[in-house]
Amino acid sequence: MCGIVGVLGSGSIAGSIVDALKRLEYRGYDSAGVATLENGKLERRRAEGKLKNLEAKLAAAPLLGSIGIGHTRWATHGKPTETNAHPHASRGLAVVHNGIIENFKALREELAAKGYAFATQTDSEIAAFVVEDELAKGKSPAEAVHAGLKRLRGAFALVYLFEGENNLLIGARQGAPLAVGYGDGEMYLGSDALALAPFTDRVAYLEEGDWVVVRREGADIRDASGKPVQRRIQRSPAGSLLAEKGNYRHFMAKEIHEQPEVVGHTLAHYVDMAAMRLKPFAWPVDPKTLGRISIVGCGTAYFAGLVGKYWIERFARLPVEIDVASECRYREAPVERNGLTIVISQSGETADTLASLRYVKDNGSKTVGVVNVPTSSIARLTDAAAPTLAGPEIGVASTKAFTCQLAAMACLAISLGRARGAIDEAREAALLAELVLTPGLLAEALKLEPAAETVAHAIARARDVLYLGRGTAYPLALEGALKLKELSYIHAEGYPAGELKHGPIALIDEAMPVIVIAPRDAVFEKTVSNMQEVAARGGRLVLIGEKHAAEEAAVAIEHVLAMPDMGANFAPIVYAAPIQMLAYHTAVIMGKDADQPRNLAKSVTVE
Ligand code: G6P
Repeated sequence: MCGIVGVLGSGSIAGSIVDALKRLEYRGYDSAGVATLENGKLERRRAEGKLKNLEAKLAAAPLLGSIGIGHTRWATHGKPTETNAHPHASRGLAVVHNGIIENFKALREELAAKGYAFATQTDSEIAAFVVEDELAKGKSPAEAVHAGLKRLRGAFALVYLFEGENNLLIGARQGAPLAVGYGDGEMYLGSDALALAPFTDRVAYLEEGDWVVVRREGADIRDASGKPVQRRIQRSPAGSLLAEKGNYRHFMAKEIHEQPEVVGHTLAHYVDMAAMRLKPFAWPVDPKTLGRISIVGCGTAYFAGLVGKYWIERFARLPVEIDVASECRYREAPVERNGLTIVISQSGETADTLASLRYVKDNGSKTVGVVNVPTSSIARLTDAAAPTLAGPEIGVASTKAFTCQLAAMACLAISLGRARGAIDEAREAALLAELVLTPGLLAEALKLEPAAETVAHAIARARDVLYLGRGTAYPLALEGALKLKELSYIHAEGYPAGELKHGPIALIDEAMPVIVIAPRDAVFEKTVSNMQEVAARGGRLVLIGEKHAAEEAAVAIEHVLAMPDMGANFAPIVYAAPIQMLAYHTAVIMGKDADQPRNLAKSVTVE
């Protein structure tokens, strides 16, 4: 994941910027760069590979400026070359960027037609050009950034440096984190407080949509509309920096909000964003030879596998068998020699999942591990790694690891489909184009937080809650019920909406909220019928679906969580956000410990 540092200091600050970037090495990167102003003019040094290469360049040709920006790049669009390394410059400004700018192709065409010449294959360069384009209309740097931000879509963080402006950096947060550091006559910007630790322990975190004008005298933080806002300055004690909560009360809340960024990074691991093709995946067995596939996991990881089953069957036309690991390991299921088992685990240490992995391996199956901890037992034992890049997950109830597991499973399903000839190159490109919109849509969905909190007040009074969904929304209904029961201790069940008539309809009354997860997909109308059945019996409906779809449904719905309009294929990645926020806020309202629910463990390494 890319790292960002910005410094308004005194004396030559390039060395300090590199020191701060070293603290962001843990995020992973493959090139790096620094830009400073010397006598008001932009100067850059960039290098492929590790920071020592950048340090060598700086030693050979030092940068002397006292204001500057630095970046470690984890390549998404375009190879990790020096040309593609940040900071990117256009006339009069330089920028560093973390995240994905979704509409960069359309903007590139628009600006190329105006005569702008692009030097790189990155999406990031466009962030420089849109602001240059606004400056050309006679705007001030702050006005130009504010206008430029409105033209960019996706999930990202940015910091701008302007030629001739020796006392100005402008940063923005839209889906990826950015922190402001307060020093003594000096100011800083960074991806997290860890990067700022060499300079200061006084840090304020930008909130979603915020942008900030930073001068040595202080920071002027604005919200997306341009209104000045205050963000609390906190002290970040050195020892606690790797696992800090930022502006959030709980790790779980922080991890929910990290999803646009970490899902983006997970997707970038699998997708060549510039070509809209999957990067090659080394399947341990030729997918064409497979007659079926098996998936194993526990808890939330199992539900990610269940969504994966729908995707693999749809895109690769390959039957999928899925087991919870504790069943798989003891039921002596026949294992196909040279078949394929996908093992899903955040921790990579869950005892039942590990035992299942050993069982299928001993019986001749090849294995792929969808794992978040790369050094874990499961990651080491599987034949091929399909990593999730969620970063450390501290909250016991899994959130960002789940959506990253979904992102990885979507890519694996498309990869299997291509390898087996079930989908062609054009369909692959169309599916990926839809998939890479999910980080930006997640950022949109997270704006439903106040609405989710309102609904949570109603849920907190319930004794039982029913979650309904069809297709890929069915596993999400199971995950929604799991999240609610583990966090709030309210009894909840997830059901396929079509099964309503076969049992749960008997439970419907005025006391039980029925949460319906209904993206606008091929079975949406069927789900609407189920909502009508609930409404006809006086049930209390909560709909998680698109606004227009809710209006068309013409059913008495008590609460609607109005999701952004989107294609239905990868809806579970985005619809996970409201179900997580519902469970989280219900727990907080009820005074439960959202990070460490009673009796539960983060990593279950015993049977
Ligand atoms: C525990 C955790 C869950 C997690 C499950 C599987 O129950 O509380 O959040 O989904 O284990 O863990 P794994 O690390 O294998 O994904």
